[in-house]
Amino acid sequence: MTDWKNPPKLFIPGPVHVLPEVLEQLSRPTLGHRGKEYSQLHSETVGMLKEILYTQQNVFLSTSSASGVWEGSILNGVKMDETVLCTMCGAFSDKYADVARACGRQVEELKVEWGQAITPEMVDKKLAEGKYAAVTMVYNETSTGLTNPVYEISEMLRDKYPDILIFVDAVSGMVGLPLHFDQLGWDVVFASVQKAFAIPPGLAVFAVSNRLMEKSKTVPNRGYYFDFQQFAKSDAKNQTPTTPVIPHIMALHYQCGRLLKEGMENVWERHKKMAEFVRGWAKENFALFAPEPYASNTLTAVKNTREIKVGEVIKALQEKHNTVFGNGYGKIKDLTFRIAHMGDITLDDLKELLGWIDDELK
Ligand SMILES: Cc1ncc(COP(=O)(O)O)c(C=O)c1O
Repeated sequence: MTDWKNPPKLFIPGPVHVLPEVLEQLSRPTLGHRGKEYSQLHSETVGMLKEILYTQQNVFLSTSSASGVWEGSILNGVKMDETVLCTMCGAFSDKYADVARACGRQVEELKVEWGQAITPEMVDKKLAEGKYAAVTMVYNETSTGLTNPVYEISEMLRDKYPDILIFVDAVSGMVGLPLHFDQLGWDVVFASVQKAFAIPPGLAVFAVSNRLMEKSKTVPNRGYYFDFQQFAKSDAKNQTPTTPVIPHIMALHYQCGRLLKEGMENVWERHKKMAEFVRGWAKENFALFAPEPYASNTLTAVKNTREIKVGEVIKALQEKHNTVFGNGYGKIKDLTFRIAHMGDITLDDLKELLGWIDDELK
């Protein structure tokens, strides 16, 4: 039987491996969330996140996973009689559209095959056809290991459609990939901390533009838990609207300190080096699922060209090395497998992992 008290080392694309020193942060004595110690923790953490996300606008902490901010972005940014364009290229960008529909908003889809990228030209063509309040994008599609060209898309949007709000799911991209929130002109970006922040799940980080904060005041029925106005009101006191997951915020504070010490450019470069190594292995032994120019630097989706029994290899690695990597996701479950290279995973960890996979495939 699997021993949950001795779990395997994780190379799945979230939750990812967490360092013991980060886990230690989660066991610090707790604080009252309306006291001055919490306020200090909150303001220092948010201050560091603003540097990490290259923003002087609003950064909030949500005691939820990122899915909550999917919902929050729609509830705060799109009125009932407005339409949101959802760009869809895999399981998670598809789900963003499901969330918008579940919130009762009108959704128009821009859909490509899983494994293909969304391009500025496609978005431009679609936006020219109708009237939209907002567009949703996924920065890094975790199901297909693909990074969309969000810098190019955002430049086109700023030039040609400056009034359309831009909502970006950066759940598996934030920290691992370049992200200059203010320069990109985004209105919301969000991630959960179990990806490249390398913290156990339970907390999401999100940034909101000032213009969306203004619009949100005019949107009725924003709901309760993800009302951005309440986040702003509490943040002015260095607090959150409801009791936050304080241990995770302590761990986030610790991780933000490490990231800034390393420097974001160096962090992105470190992710790129790990990705290049895994891509090299994947191309030598199998193939990449996403076209190489769009292949992600935080995880690799390997096309299972040799039709190996992925489940058996994962099981063997778990039994022999107490380590797991990711199987395929959703409708490409059997066609792919996924290896995460984000957060505190190292190149040496990846060399060891791929060596073990090689041994199994001999
Ligand atoms: C790109 C992307 N978006 C959204 C989510 C949902 O995040 P969460 O499970 O933290 O709510 C995930 C989860 O893996 C994801 O990879």
